[in-house]
Amino acid sequence: MDGVYFRMERRGDGFFQTGVQAGRSQSEPFDLVIGSGRRGQTYLYWRDGLLFQLPVSYHVASKRWINSPGYEDGIVNFGRGIPPQCLDCHASGFRLERTLTGDRYAQDHRLGIGCEKCHGQAADHKQMLRPSGIDLCARCHSGSKDEPHAVPDAHGNQVGLLKSSKCFQKSGSLTCGTCHNVHRMERNPAVLSAKCGVCHGASTCKRGGPTECVSCHMPLTQSRLIEVQTYRTHRIAVYRR
Ligand code: HEC
Ligand code: HEC
Ligand code: HEC
Ligand code: HEC
Ligand code: HEC
Ligand code: HEC
Repeated sequence: MDGVYFRMERRGDGFFQTGVQAGRSQSEPFDLVIGSGRRGQTYLYWRDGLLFQLPVSYHVASKRWINSPGYEDGIVNFGRGIPPQCLDCHASGFRLERTLTGDRYAQDHRLGIGCEKCHGQAADHKQMLRPSGIDLCARCHSGSKDEPHAVPDAHGNQVGLLKSSKCFQKSGSLTCGTCHNVHRMERNPAVLSAKCGVCHGASTCKRGGPTECVSCHMPLTQSRLIEVQTYRTHRIAVYRR
């Protein structure tokens, strides 16, 4: 629609999104961020103890501000509430509490994924759950069934893809933890390729040469939903090019 636009602005020590339509405007702060920014980020603001999504998100691959999916194009609307499900995967302790004036998020929430998401609520180290296997990761890494996505294609299905690999089916022992240590960020393909060696000798592959295993067997793949997005497929296989 004509005359609709959004502005990102800094005021004092805060950042705001302002939507303008037919001479009227609404402005809300960037209170919280979802996403480390690998694929994209979306932004939330507080109102009366609840969280709402700002209408404009950032899409990393195209380096652009985009309409937060789920918001209709061409109108100024800041009304999309963020349900507890998003926060159950992206943060910790965001329970809805009933109060006299309506529902609100509990005060003891924390940003980020706390230890107890994977290790349980144990009081001390000895009782801590020792997670193993793929099911724990599957809770959050099986792709998003809920449309619309917050950022196009933000939710990869690494579990489904890995399970479709012969490495998974024939070994009976391949888990996410074979390659990833969730306690630290590791994005170096050379380091991750070395993990293939847990099962495959260096001489199994005559085609390899000095190139890293994952560049041929877990190639960067174009996203289905948006052409500029690439991700590394978790279906380990022989790809003919
Ligand atoms: C079932 C758990 C789950 C739910 C529910 C979920 N997400 Fe996610 N989200 C993830 C995971 C896991 C990733 C990282 C996925 C990847 O890299 O493949 C992610 C990625 C993202 C990203 C991109 C992050 C980045 O670093 O690039 C954004 C933005 C996002 N989610 C927003 C949302 C919003 C908003 C909702 C609610 C409408 C939501 N998510 C619901 C698990 C979830
Ligand atoms: C995303 C899930 C996840 C989160 C979040 C997480 N961990 Fe872990 N943690 C694991 C998994 C999986 C293992 C098992 C690794 C293995 O067996 O190789 C593990 C192992 C451990 C171990 C070693 C346990 C043992 O049996 O030797 C410690 C200690 C630990 N985590 C502490 C923490 C702390 C402290 C935090 C919070 C800062 C945390 N973890 C957050 C998944 C997680
Ligand atoms: C409670 C939900 C949850 C669980 C359980 C979970 N993850 Fe995640 N994971 C996320 C979210 C959300 C992100 C995206 C973080 C962001 O961008 O803010 C993520 C990101 C990642 C990343 C990418 C890190 C990077 O480089 O950016 C890896 C690898 C990963 N998770 C592995 C695992 C593994 C392995 C397990 C099982 C041991 C696991 N996760 C369990 C929610 C979860
Ligand atoms: C936990 C053990 C394990 C790990 C780790 C592992 N694989 Fe495998 N992989 C296997 C097994 C078992 C097979 C099946 C062999 C057979 O059919 O004889 C296999 C098969 C393959 C195949 C043939 C696939 C096909 O569809 O024909 C390729 C290619 C492969 N692996 C590459 C890799 C690469 C690259 C890595 C690291 C990114 C890796 N694997 C990590 C166990 C593993
Ligand atoms: C054989 C090794 C291997 C296994 C097993 C593996 N990954 Fe990965 N993973 C990789 C590589 C390589 C990358 C790309 C690293 C990068 O670019 O930062 C990656 C990247 C990721 C990312 C970042 C987003 C993306 O898609 O690029 C997430 C999230 C992730 N893995 C989750 C998982 C989960 C969950 C499992 C178990 C279902 C798993 N991985 C099993 C090797 C592995
Ligand atoms: C330059 C691309 C490339 C690289 C790098 C590469 N491979 Fe391969 N790999 C191939 C191709 C192509 C085939 C299929 C070969 C054929 O059918 O003749 C293959 C086959 C395989 C197979 C199946 C062998 C069989 O006989 O079924 C395994 C296992 C494998 N590679 C593991 C690895 C490992 C582990 C690494 C890293 C040390 C690696 N590859 C690096 C291209 C590559």
